[in-house]
Amino acid sequence: MDIWTIRRDDGFFVTNDPARLDFDFIHAGLTSSYWSPGISREKVEKAARHSVAIGLYDFNCFQIGYCRVVTDHTHFAYLADVWVDPQRRGGGLGTFLVDSVVNQPEWHHLRRFLLFTADAHGLYARFGFGALEKPERAMVRLGSA
Ligand SMILES: CC(C)(COP(=O)(O)OP(=O)(O)OC[C@H]1O[C@@H](n2cnc3c(N)ncnc32)[C@H](O)[C@@H]1OP(=O)(O)O)[C@@H](O)C(=O)NCCC(=O)NCCS
Repeated sequence: MDIWTIRRDDGFFVTNDPARLDFDFIHAGLTSSYWSPGISREKVEKAARHSVAIGLYDFNCFQIGYCRVVTDHTHFAYLADVWVDPQRRGGGLGTFLVDSVVNQPEWHHLRRFLLFTADAHGLYARFGFGALEKPERAMVRLGSA
């Protein structure tokens, strides 16, 4: 896997470098999220291992945000677990994280980038995400978790 890093002038950066991931931070966030309350650390780490896990870091290299992309790198990608430290929200960091991820050159040619969100539609709309163009063609099989 190619490691990439997008760095801002203030030293904050986004990277897919797995060596930088702080699973104390990631698990604390995701286990308190509305979509995976109480999720175990084991599941968080397993999902990250099988995804392209991406971190957002401050200028001291402390992790302050996370997301992951499930993809075949050819046709399809699914953006999940987008999370920014609550203390740091509202300052453009979520935008920086999503921008860095969806504009990765390796994913430009994908046919579809999919995500689910309860209330952050505005954040994603600025990067071209919208409602399913033909929802009658989409189906989902719900699992037990
Ligand atoms: C969503 C999240 C990643 C945004 O991070 P952030 O650092 O606050 O994002 P930004 O400061 O770049 O804000 C981006 C824009 O999205 C909007 N926005 C952010 N979160 C929003 C939410 N939950 N509902 C509606 N709008 C939201 C902001 O108002 C802002 O709009 P503006 O630029 O016009 O003011 C962060 O709020 C978060 O971690 N939330 C909890 C987890 C979550 O809901 N993740 C998304 C699941 S798909």
